[in-house]
Amino acid sequence: MFDSRIIMGDSRQMLEVEDDSVQLVVTSPPYPMISMWDETFAKVSATSFDSMHEYLRAVWIEVERVLIPGGIACVNIGDATRTVDGIFRLYPNHSRVIEVFERLGMVTLPYILWKKPTTKPHYKGKGAFLGSGFLPPNAYVTVDMEYILIFRKGPLRSFEPKDPARYESRYTKRQRDEWFSQVWTIAGTRQKVEGVNRRVAAFPEEIPSRLIRMFSVAGDTVVDPFLGTGTTAKTALIHGRRFIGYEMVGELESIIKAKLGTWAGSVAWRRRALVDPTTVG
Ligand SMILES: C[S@@+](CC[C@H](N)C(=O)[O-])C[C@H]1O[C@@H](n2cnc3c(N)ncnc32)[C@H](O)[C@@H]1O
Repeated sequence: MFDSRIIMGDSRQMLEVEDDSVQLVVTSPPYPMISMWDETFAKVSATSFDSMHEYLRAVWIEVERVLIPGGIACVNIGDATRTVDGIFRLYPNHSRVIEVFERLGMVTLPYILWKKPTTKPHYKGKGAFLGSGFLPPNAYVTVDMEYILIFRKGPLRSFEPKDPARYESRYTKRQRDEWFSQVWTIAGTRQKVEGVNRRVAAFPEEIPSRLIRMFSVAGDTVVDPFLGTGTTAKTALIHGRRFIGYEMVGELESIIKAKLGTWAGSVAWRRRALVDPTTVG
Protein backbone atom coordinates (compact mmCIF):
# COMPACT_ATOMS: atom_id res chain seq x y z
CA MET A 1 0.00 0.00 0.00
CA PHE A 2 1.49 3.35 -1.11
CA ASP A 3 1.11 6.49 0.98
CA SER A 4 1.87 8.79 -1.95
CA ARG A 5 0.06 9.04 -5.27
CA ILE A 6 0.44 10.83 -8.57
CA ILE A 7 -2.61 11.04 -10.77
CA MET A 8 -2.12 11.93 -14.43
CA GLY A 9 -5.47 13.66 -14.69
CA ASP A 10 -7.50 16.79 -14.04
CA SER A 11 -7.46 18.31 -10.56
CA ARG A 12 -10.80 20.06 -11.01
CA GLN A 13 -12.08 16.85 -9.52
CA MET A 14 -9.70 15.35 -6.97
CA LEU A 15 -11.78 12.19 -6.69
CA GLU A 16 -8.89 10.32 -5.05
CA VAL A 17 -8.67 12.73 -2.09
CA GLU A 18 -11.11 12.67 0.82
CA ASP A 19 -12.62 15.77 2.41
CA ASP A 20 -10.58 17.25 5.30
CA SER A 21 -7.61 14.94 4.78
CA VAL A 22 -4.69 17.13 3.62
CA GLN A 23 -2.48 19.33 5.80
CA LEU A 24 -0.77 21.39 3.09
CA VAL A 25 -1.21 22.39 -0.56
CA VAL A 26 1.82 23.80 -2.39
CA THR A 27 1.22 24.70 -6.00
CA SER A 28 1.76 26.96 -8.98
CA PRO A 29 -1.05 27.04 -11.56
CA PRO A 30 -0.81 28.13 -15.18
CA TYR A 31 -0.80 31.95 -15.05
CA PRO A 32 -3.79 33.63 -16.76
CA MET A 33 -2.85 36.08 -19.56
CA ILE A 34 0.77 34.86 -19.80
CA SER A 35 0.97 33.76 -23.43
CA MET A 36 2.82 30.47 -22.74
CA TRP A 37 -0.34 29.21 -21.00
CA ASP A 38 -2.86 30.35 -23.67
CA GLU A 39 -2.97 26.88 -25.20
CA THR A 40 -3.65 25.20 -21.84
CA PHE A 41 -6.57 27.52 -21.13
CA ALA A 42 -7.87 27.28 -24.71
CA LYS A 43 -8.17 23.48 -24.27
CA VAL A 44 -10.86 24.10 -21.68
CA SER A 45 -12.27 27.08 -23.62
CA ALA A 46 -11.00 29.63 -21.11
CA THR A 47 -9.91 32.50 -23.33
CA SER A 48 -10.51 35.67 -21.29
CA PHE A 49 -8.98 36.83 -18.00
CA ASP A 50 -12.29 36.11 -16.23
CA SER A 51 -12.82 32.67 -17.75
CA MET A 52 -9.21 31.62 -17.00
CA HIS A 53 -9.77 32.44 -13.33
CA GLU A 54 -13.13 30.61 -13.46
CA TYR A 55 -11.19 27.55 -14.62
CA LEU A 56 -8.67 27.84 -11.77
CA ARG A 57 -11.50 28.44 -9.29
CA ALA A 58 -12.75 24.89 -9.86
CA VAL A 59 -9.39 23.67 -8.50
CA TRP A 60 -9.38 26.15 -5.58
CA ILE A 61 -12.81 24.76 -4.55
CA GLU A 62 -11.26 21.29 -4.42
CA VAL A 63 -8.28 22.63 -2.45
CA GLU A 64 -10.59 24.04 0.22
CA ARG A 65 -12.55 20.78 0.34
CA VAL A 66 -9.56 18.49 0.87
CA LEU A 67 -7.73 20.62 3.46
CA ILE A 68 -8.15 19.77 7.13
CA PRO A 69 -9.33 22.57 9.43
CA GLY A 70 -6.14 24.55 10.08
CA GLY A 71 -4.60 23.24 6.83
CA ILE A 72 -2.65 25.67 4.66
CA ALA A 73 -2.55 26.42 0.93
CA CYS A 74 0.47 28.14 -0.68
CA VAL A 75 -0.13 29.37 -4.24
CA ASN A 76 2.75 30.69 -6.34
CA ILE A 77 1.41 33.00 -9.05
CA GLY A 78 2.68 35.96 -11.05
CA ASP A 79 0.76 38.87 -12.46
CA ALA A 80 0.72 39.32 -16.24
CA THR A 81 1.21 42.32 -18.48
CA ARG A 82 -0.22 42.24 -21.97
CA THR A 83 -1.47 44.41 -24.80
CA VAL A 84 -5.08 43.56 -25.67
CA ASP A 85 -7.04 45.59 -28.23
CA GLY A 86 -4.12 48.03 -28.36
CA ILE A 87 -4.09 48.69 -24.60
CA PHE A 88 -1.13 47.58 -22.47
CA ARG A 89 -2.18 46.77 -18.93
CA LEU A 90 -1.58 44.66 -15.84
CA TYR A 91 -3.65 41.56 -15.22
CA PRO A 92 -3.38 41.15 -11.43
CA ASN A 93 -3.66 37.39 -11.09
CA HIS A 94 -2.71 37.46 -7.42
CA SER A 95 -5.67 39.63 -6.43
CA ARG A 96 -8.12 37.39 -8.33
CA VAL A 97 -6.81 34.33 -6.50
CA ILE A 98 -7.05 36.07 -3.11
CA GLU A 99 -10.65 37.03 -3.90
CA VAL A 100 -11.61 33.44 -4.71
CA PHE A 101 -9.99 32.01 -1.55
CA GLU A 102 -11.66 34.70 0.58
CA ARG A 103 -15.05 33.81 -0.95
CA LEU A 104 -14.37 30.18 -0.08
CA GLY A 105 -14.04 31.27 3.55
CA MET A 106 -10.27 30.77 3.81
CA VAL A 107 -8.14 33.10 5.95
CA THR A 108 -5.62 35.16 3.95
CA LEU A 109 -2.19 35.26 5.64
CA PRO A 110 0.77 37.56 4.86
CA TYR A 111 2.28 36.53 1.53
CA ILE A 112 5.81 36.17 0.19
CA LEU A 113 7.19 38.15 -2.73
CA TRP A 114 9.55 36.00 -4.75
CA LYS A 115 12.12 38.15 -6.50
CA LYS A 116 14.09 36.48 -9.27
CA PRO A 117 17.42 38.24 -9.70
CA THR A 118 17.67 39.31 -13.32
CA THR A 119 20.74 40.16 -15.33
CA LYS A 120 18.64 41.92 -17.97
CA PRO A 121 19.45 45.61 -18.42
CA HIS A 122 16.43 47.79 -17.91
CA TYR A 123 16.98 49.93 -20.94
CA LYS A 124 19.23 48.73 -23.73
CA GLY A 125 16.86 48.60 -26.67
CA LYS A 126 15.67 45.04 -25.99
CA GLY A 127 15.83 45.12 -22.17
CA ALA A 128 13.02 44.54 -19.71
CA PHE A 129 12.11 48.22 -19.72
CA LEU A 130 8.69 48.80 -21.24
CA GLY A 131 7.47 52.14 -22.55
CA SER A 132 9.06 55.35 -23.68
CA GLY A 133 12.69 55.23 -22.57
CA PHE A 134 13.69 58.24 -20.49
CA LEU A 135 10.71 60.47 -21.20
CA PRO A 136 7.92 60.74 -18.64
CA PRO A 137 5.12 59.84 -18.14
CA ASN A 138 4.41 56.81 -20.36
CA ALA A 139 6.90 54.16 -19.24
CA TYR A 140 5.89 51.07 -17.24
CA VAL A 141 7.36 49.51 -14.13
CA THR A 142 8.96 46.10 -14.78
CA VAL A 143 7.16 43.11 -13.24
CA ASP A 144 10.00 41.15 -11.63
CA MET A 145 8.27 39.62 -8.59
CA GLU A 146 5.93 36.69 -8.20
CA TYR A 147 3.62 36.04 -5.28
CA ILE A 148 3.46 33.12 -2.93
CA LEU A 149 -0.02 33.55 -1.49
CA ILE A 150 -0.76 31.79 1.78
CA PHE A 151 -4.23 30.84 3.05
CA ARG A 152 -5.49 28.85 6.03
CA LYS A 153 -8.72 26.89 6.31
CA GLY A 154 -10.33 28.14 9.50
CA PRO A 155 -8.61 28.43 12.88
CA LEU A 156 -5.02 27.44 13.76
CA ARG A 157 -4.20 23.73 13.66
CA SER A 158 -3.84 22.29 17.13
CA PHE A 159 -1.28 19.77 18.38
CA GLU A 160 -0.79 17.73 21.54
CA PRO A 161 1.87 19.30 23.79
CA LYS A 162 5.35 18.05 22.75
CA ASP A 163 3.95 16.36 19.62
CA PRO A 164 7.01 14.37 18.43
CA ALA A 165 6.44 14.89 14.67
CA ARG A 166 6.20 18.61 15.23
CA TYR A 167 9.43 18.74 17.24
CA GLU A 168 11.19 16.51 14.71
CA SER A 169 10.20 19.03 12.01
CA ARG A 170 11.56 22.15 13.69
CA TYR A 171 13.64 24.65 11.75
CA THR A 172 16.64 26.65 12.97
CA LYS A 173 16.64 30.32 14.01
CA ARG A 174 18.61 31.21 10.88
CA GLN A 175 16.07 29.39 8.70
CA ARG A 176 13.17 31.04 10.50
CA ASP A 177 14.64 34.52 10.06
CA GLU A 178 15.21 33.96 6.35
CA TRP A 179 12.09 31.96 5.46
CA PHE A 180 9.60 34.15 7.33
CA SER A 181 10.83 37.41 5.79
CA GLN A 182 8.56 38.78 3.09
CA VAL A 183 10.97 38.95 0.13
CA TRP A 184 12.71 35.83 -1.09
CA THR A 185 15.46 36.34 -3.64
CA ILE A 186 15.87 33.01 -5.39
CA ALA A 187 17.02 32.39 -8.97
CA GLY A 188 14.43 30.85 -11.31
CA THR A 189 14.83 27.44 -12.96
CA ARG A 190 15.93 26.87 -16.54
CA GLN A 191 12.58 26.63 -18.34
CA LYS A 192 13.19 24.26 -21.24
CA VAL A 193 12.38 20.65 -20.41
CA GLU A 194 14.49 18.26 -22.49
CA GLY A 195 12.57 15.99 -24.84
CA VAL A 196 9.21 17.67 -24.39
CA ASN A 197 8.33 20.23 -26.97
CA ARG A 198 6.80 22.64 -24.51
CA ARG A 199 7.87 24.90 -21.71
CA VAL A 200 6.94 24.08 -18.14
CA ALA A 201 7.44 26.91 -15.69
CA ALA A 202 9.00 24.75 -12.99
CA PHE A 203 9.81 26.50 -9.74
CA PRO A 204 13.19 25.87 -8.10
CA GLU A 205 13.19 23.16 -5.41
CA GLU A 206 14.03 25.78 -2.79
CA ILE A 207 10.48 27.21 -3.05
CA PRO A 208 8.40 24.09 -2.19
CA SER A 209 11.15 22.87 0.12
CA ARG A 210 10.89 25.97 2.34
CA LEU A 211 7.07 26.02 2.23
CA ILE A 212 6.81 22.36 3.17
CA ARG A 213 9.14 22.85 6.15
CA MET A 214 7.38 26.06 7.23
CA PHE A 215 3.78 24.83 7.03
CA SER A 216 3.70 21.05 7.60
CA VAL A 217 5.19 18.45 9.89
CA ALA A 218 6.74 15.05 9.14
CA GLY A 219 4.10 12.49 8.12
CA ASP A 220 1.63 15.14 6.87
CA THR A 221 0.05 14.89 3.43
CA VAL A 222 1.05 17.54 0.88
CA VAL A 223 -0.97 18.04 -2.34
CA ASP A 224 0.02 19.76 -5.59
CA PRO A 225 -2.93 19.99 -8.03
CA PHE A 226 -0.72 21.47 -10.81
CA LEU A 227 2.27 19.17 -10.60
CA GLY A 228 4.16 20.10 -13.82
CA THR A 229 7.59 18.46 -13.62
CA GLY A 230 7.03 17.16 -10.09
CA THR A 231 9.12 19.61 -8.05
CA THR A 232 6.70 19.63 -5.10
CA ALA A 233 6.50 15.82 -5.13
CA LYS A 234 10.26 15.43 -4.91
CA THR A 235 10.71 17.90 -2.06
CA ALA A 236 7.71 16.55 -0.10
CA LEU A 237 9.10 13.01 -0.23
CA ILE A 238 12.63 14.18 0.69
CA HIS A 239 11.19 15.88 3.79
CA GLY A 240 9.25 12.79 4.93
CA ARG A 241 5.79 13.97 3.91
CA ARG A 242 3.15 11.94 2.07
CA PHE A 243 2.31 13.37 -1.32
CA ILE A 244 -0.62 13.47 -3.77
CA GLY A 245 -0.22 15.25 -7.11
CA TYR A 246 -2.24 15.86 -10.27
CA GLU A 247 -0.93 16.67 -13.75
CA MET A 248 -3.14 16.63 -16.81
CA VAL A 249 -0.44 16.58 -19.51
CA GLY A 250 0.38 12.90 -20.01
CA GLU A 251 3.77 13.61 -21.64
CA LEU A 252 5.03 14.96 -18.32
CA GLU A 253 4.81 11.53 -16.63
CA SER A 254 8.31 10.53 -17.75
CA ILE A 255 9.69 13.96 -16.76
CA ILE A 256 8.16 13.62 -13.28
CA LYS A 257 9.55 10.08 -12.94
CA ALA A 258 13.02 11.29 -13.93
CA LYS A 259 12.86 14.14 -11.41
CA LEU A 260 11.74 11.78 -8.63
CA GLY A 261 14.57 9.32 -9.37
CA THR A 262 14.53 6.58 -6.74
CA TRP A 263 11.50 8.18 -5.04
CA ALA A 264 9.35 7.29 -8.12
CA GLY A 265 9.14 3.72 -6.81
CA SER A 266 7.48 4.81 -3.57
CA VAL A 267 4.57 6.49 -5.36
CA ALA A 268 1.41 4.86 -6.78
CA TRP A 269 0.68 6.12 -10.33
CA ARG A 270 -2.71 6.45 -11.92
CA ARG A 271 -3.95 7.74 -15.27
CA ARG A 272 -7.40 9.14 -15.79
CA ALA A 273 -9.20 11.09 -18.48
CA LEU A 274 -9.80 14.83 -18.49
CA VAL A 275 -12.79 16.02 -16.51
CA ASP A 276 -15.86 16.80 -18.59
CA PRO A 277 -16.07 20.61 -18.08
CA THR A 278 -19.88 20.46 -17.93
CA THR A 279 -19.69 18.44 -14.72
CA VAL A 280 -17.54 21.05 -12.91
CA GLY A 281 -19.50 23.60 -10.90
C1 LIG B 1 3.07 26.30 -13.72
S1 LIG B 1 3.02 24.60 -14.11
C2 LIG B 1 3.55 23.86 -12.61
C3 LIG B 1 5.04 23.74 -12.53
C4 LIG B 1 5.51 23.00 -11.29
N1 LIG B 1 5.40 23.80 -10.10
C5 LIG B 1 6.94 22.53 -11.46
O1 LIG B 1 7.81 22.90 -10.66
O2 LIG B 1 7.22 21.83 -12.43
C6 LIG B 1 1.29 24.24 -14.12
C7 LIG B 1 0.97 22.82 -14.53
O3 LIG B 1 -0.43 22.60 -14.28
C8 LIG B 1 -0.92 21.70 -15.27
N2 LIG B 1 -2.40 21.82 -15.27
C9 LIG B 1 -3.16 22.84 -15.73
N3 LIG B 1 -4.48 22.61 -15.48
C10 LIG B 1 -4.53 21.42 -14.81
C11 LIG B 1 -5.61 20.66 -14.26
N4 LIG B 1 -6.88 21.05 -14.35
N5 LIG B 1 -5.31 19.49 -13.64
C12 LIG B 1 -4.03 19.04 -13.55
N6 LIG B 1 -2.97 19.73 -14.06
C13 LIG B 1 -3.21 20.91 -14.68
C14 LIG B 1 -0.23 22.17 -16.54
O4 LIG B 1 -0.21 21.15 -17.52
C15 LIG B 1 1.18 22.51 -16.00
O5 LIG B 1 2.05 21.41 -16.13
